[in-house]
Amino acid sequence: MQIFTQIDPLRAYWSQQKTTGKSFGFVPTMGALHEGHLSLIRSSEAECDITICSIFVNPTQFNNPTDLAKYPRPIENDIALLRSNGCDVLFCPPEEEIYQDNPQIHFDVGTLGNSLEGFYRPGHFNGVALIVAKLFNIVRPDRAYFGQKDYQQFLIVNRLVRDLNFNVLLRCIPIQREPDGLAMSSRNSRLSDDQRKKAIAFFHCLKMAQSKLKTGTAFHQIREEARQYCRSHSVKLEYFEMADATSLAIQENPSPNTILLIAGYVGEVRLIDNVMINE
Ligand code: PAF
Repeated sequence: MQIFTQIDPLRAYWSQQKTTGKSFGFVPTMGALHEGHLSLIRSSEAECDITICSIFVNPTQFNNPTDLAKYPRPIENDIALLRSNGCDVLFCPPEEEIYQDNPQIHFDVGTLGNSLEGFYRPGHFNGVALIVAKLFNIVRPDRAYFGQKDYQQFLIVNRLVRDLNFNVLLRCIPIQREPDGLAMSSRNSRLSDDQRKKAIAFFHCLKMAQSKLKTGTAFHQIREEARQYCRSHSVKLEYFEMADATSLAIQENPSPNTILLIAGYVGEVRLIDNVMINE
């Protein structure tokens, strides 16, 4: 695996590979890699000649400085995982390579960016759009792979690609789960043993909602039950919503295209999860 920390050598490598018509698959990450990321790498490997993974803990998408400071950064372990999973190229720039100046361009991603994650993490999607646009311009991939766990992020990147005409095909890869159902996340490594057991509460609420909606229970009742369940399991529910999976418009009545989205805290670790209603 080739490792680049600077933009210019990566661009030179890209141009050289393109002379032989190679296709590039891109997996942008913030590191602390787990099976979820590796499933994106494998999807890219299956479809593209060269798989590039980036590791960059992007400061502009953190609205909470403690969260940024505590974000796990096990770079040696990540490199070993990428090597053993057949990744071809790693791009892991230092912060000053990406943000030479304080960025002046801001993305307003519209209603899609103001609800759910955007509401609870003001500025988050501006930072995501900014770094994804920068990385797409640097890496110039043919295809890019994102996880369904960050579903709202995927829809926003999709909008970014359409609105700015990035020549990249996006893929949304299903959530990878632990045997008990907990969605894999880099943040899970910050959970204590006790918190790890409690963290399953969010997936429990999603599954409970899936089955109760099938029997006709109103979503506001389900949300109230979820609130009580989370309280009794000492986790803090931030939001639990039912939305149209294409527009992310909040719904009170389910449709075949409904997605259930949940977010909350276990201790000071913030987790998100989602399921399609018919999954
Ligand atoms: O999903 C992530 O890990 C990040 O939001 C991303 C897409 C790598 C941008 O920093």
